[in-house]
Amino acid sequence: MEKIEFLRRREQLMQQVGKGSIVIIPTAPERQRNRDVHFFYRADSDFYYLTGFAEPEAVAVLIPEREQGEYILFCREKDPEKETWHGRRAGLEGACQTYDADDAFPISDIDEILPGLMENCRRLYYPMGCYADFDAKVVEWMNHLRGRSRIGINLPNEISPLEHTVHEMRLVKSEAEIAAMRRAAEISVLAHQRAMQTCRAGMLEYQLEAEILHEFVRHGSRAPAYPSIVGGGSNACILHYIENTGTLKENDLVLIDAGCEYDYYASDITRTFPVNGKFSKEQKAIYQLVLKAQLAAIAKIHPGARWNELYDVTVQIITEGLMQLGILKGKSVDRLIAEGDFKKFYMHKAGHWLGMDVHDVGNYKIDEQWRELKPGMVTTVEPGIYIPAGSTGVEERWWNIGVRIEDDVLVTKTGHEVLTAGAQKTIEEIEALMAT
Ligand code: GLY
Ligand code: MN
Ligand code: MN
Repeated sequence: MEKIEFLRRREQLMQQVGKGSIVIIPTAPERQRNRDVHFFYRADSDFYYLTGFAEPEAVAVLIPEREQGEYILFCREKDPEKETWHGRRAGLEGACQTYDADDAFPISDIDEILPGLMENCRRLYYPMGCYADFDAKVVEWMNHLRGRSRIGINLPNEISPLEHTVHEMRLVKSEAEIAAMRRAAEISVLAHQRAMQTCRAGMLEYQLEAEILHEFVRHGSRAPAYPSIVGGGSNACILHYIENTGTLKENDLVLIDAGCEYDYYASDITRTFPVNGKFSKEQKAIYQLVLKAQLAAIAKIHPGARWNELYDVTVQIITEGLMQLGILKGKSVDRLIAEGDFKKFYMHKAGHWLGMDVHDVGNYKIDEQWRELKPGMVTTVEPGIYIPAGSTGVEERWWNIGVRIEDDVLVTKTGHEVLTAGAQKTIEEIEALMAT
């Protein structure tokens, strides 16, 4: 992403918090996986959103209208020996030259320098409660200032969680962000197509996962946006199944929920298809119903529509359909909905915001009202029906059918655009692709 994009974000944030404020944003800590091995490092989304700086051990500080410079970056210094072992660092010079900081200091000096920057700022914004160690640091810096009040130094008298402001910004995507999300979506589409084409009875779920990951990495996505779910048969009925160790069986469905992260933006696609390439009668009936609900929810997406309309239409269609199939019974549709009977088979919501985080930031309700959609927002649409073996009152022929269909949808000025439309979705399209 271009540097100007990060600059524009910092300026927008500084304008919103105004003169007299200080914003302090830490990045994520490195996390230990085992002994001396760390998880693949991923910067904190808010921090990266404002800085474009991907290294660990960094803190960004924004002080609107500070004469000596508004943007200060604390980061690791260059260190030839450490860089030989662990990789390159931008260092203080790089922080200013490459990342546009007005000033940069070693992260090891932050305790000496930061209280001075906080002096006489009236408002402090920081991601309160996100990182316990960082919360403790902020208290330490506040206490340091408190000790100097008699020489005329004041503490900030308002402390606000940063997320409210930054997350509202992140909820509405810019053109550059949409371009990254489009690319993430394209790569994930290729991965799902590859899985459909490769799938054979007798394969292990993780072998299909390997096809997905291969496609992600070869197109420049080094990590999935979340652990991939590949569940055959009964495993498709476990919503967050990530073991992926089962064997794919001839007459089962397989559900794949997998999306790559590309340039810090997520995609999130689910497709469900028959292991042998041909849907059975029962699989078809459930699949058609989920698809009908998903298409109806997507059709609702336009500026001004309210967030809950998406879920409500999926609940209506799924409940009516399950009643027609004899899977829900004994009450009117209205009562089945009001009393939540459908939740036995459709127990999650219809989607979530999508962006730098797979379950992206931004409130869903404002002042007790479900939020209105606006151009630039991206949401997933992902209804599902899950009928595990042993479901009481349901004929055995429906057992072990689990179907979810999930796309990523951008709200546009005139309606919507399905970013993941390239992934085969109708029964005919899926069977045709699997036959090639
Ligand atoms: N893959 C996580 C979700 O669909 O919400
Ligand atoms: Mn999702
Ligand atoms: Mn998903």
